[in-house]
Amino acid sequence: MSTGMMKIGVCGVGTVGMATLNILRGQADSIASRAGRSLSVTHVGARTQYSEHDYGAARVSQDVMDVARDPEVDILVELIGGTGVAFDLIKLAIAEGKHVVTANKALIAEHGNELIALAESAGVQIRFEASVAGGIPIIKTLREAMAANQVSEVAGIINGTGNFILTEMSTKGREFEDVLAEAQALGYAEVDPTFDIDGTDAAHKLVILASLAFGIPLSIDAPFKQGINAITPADLEYAATMGYRVKHLGIARQRAEGIEMRVHPTLIPESKQLASVDGVLNAVMIAGSEVGELVLIGPGAGGAATASSVCADLIDIARQPRSSSLALGTPVASLVAQPTIPNGEIASEWYVRLTAADQPGVMSDITHILAAHDISIESLVQQPPAAGEDQVPIVLLTHLAREAVMNEALQEIMDLEGVQPDSALIRVEGFDH
Ligand SMILES: NC(=O)c1ccc[n+]([C@@H]2O[C@H](COP(=O)([O-])OP(=O)(O)OC[C@H]3O[C@@H](n4cnc5c(N)ncnc54)[C@H](OP(=O)(O)O)[C@@H]3O)[C@@H](O)[C@H]2O)c1
Repeated sequence: MSTGMMKIGVCGVGTVGMATLNILRGQADSIASRAGRSLSVTHVGARTQYSEHDYGAARVSQDVMDVARDPEVDILVELIGGTGVAFDLIKLAIAEGKHVVTANKALIAEHGNELIALAESAGVQIRFEASVAGGIPIIKTLREAMAANQVSEVAGIINGTGNFILTEMSTKGREFEDVLAEAQALGYAEVDPTFDIDGTDAAHKLVILASLAFGIPLSIDAPFKQGINAITPADLEYAATMGYRVKHLGIARQRAEGIEMRVHPTLIPESKQLASVDGVLNAVMIAGSEVGELVLIGPGAGGAATASSVCADLIDIARQPRSSSLALGTPVASLVAQPTIPNGEIASEWYVRLTAADQPGVMSDITHILAAHDISIESLVQQPPAAGEDQVPIVLLTHLAREAVMNEALQEIMDLEGVQPDSALIRVEGFDH
């Protein structure tokens, strides 16, 4: 390993990879002065070489494994994505004694325990600031700035595509499919947007945040996840008339019985900061025992913003290449698993939308069923039927109820004569600590 200049190998030169090369070139002087040495990309792993890509003086290999094997390279930057080639590449780089920087949340959430343990044994660093909330320095904040706190909660908007879709639907009344198509055309959503929409991408990031916040191992199967595709413009409108905004949140919360970890659409009071974070922005709220509540807001994706975090990791390594990075705040062997609280056991307030026949008795049957399950109604909006219609939407907010109980009650309500099969059930989070 060199003692002067840090030699960097970049594997995967797509959106984030090219932006990383551009920052390292464009900001070379200030980066060298902050890192205490210069950082130079000496080897690029590019499966496809595009004529418009300028890799400078770097050696270029089509096989990314050649970069991991290059004895000249000090730090390998993995910007391929996924859990296949990227996993093998990082293992090889660590075995070859190289530090690793990655933006790959899926890989860290799924294989992070193993990769970090390998890095610890090999005496190299693995850093992944860009893997959660792109340009927001949330990992450094949790791992370093919050180190004196007991964290009781991390919650946020951690998928920009989903937030863009919900914002467009709520501010312009647009339909889900229509906004999704625009998000793809604008390059916010992946070509296959499944992970953005069904909550998988946010769940990967939540797994990483929860590990840092609570000192637990990365647990890919822990989060409950629910996507945004069932949200209708009508639900967003009803929520707004009741003083709420709907956001797709990842929430990890420490309870006496264990950890809550869930990703789902959520009604938030308009007065809360998270409620006003719109478009492709991300925001993460952290509640700490000493500092209180912090909210970090910023670009959660995009080449330059994400590469800004990649480069910050590179500079950290260049400053102190011999230190142990403690990727999750403590050695992996010191992480302590905690039970995950099943979603059905988690109580919250609820937004319920039903459609029912505008006839005497239906409303009292509904309230009777809720009362029989000890679910009290906080507010209720019943619209008059539209001209020529005999069905009316009924929207209500409940007080605290466990999800399992809420589902039981809703099923009984749906079985009532005069109640339509179409309904919505969304958690409400007040974030009142
Ligand atoms: N884009 C963002 O805003 C963002 C934000 C946060 C985190 N990230 C993460 O950053 C990473 C990179 O994302 P990206 O948006 O830059 O992706 P991208 O634009 O699709 O670039 C991926 C690069 O990896 C190469 N690649 C893919 N499969 C490969 C393989 N099997 N062997 C060798 N090279 C391969 C691709 O080559 P070809 O050109 O040949 O396909 C491409 O150059 C991912 O982990 C992603 O989750 C991205």
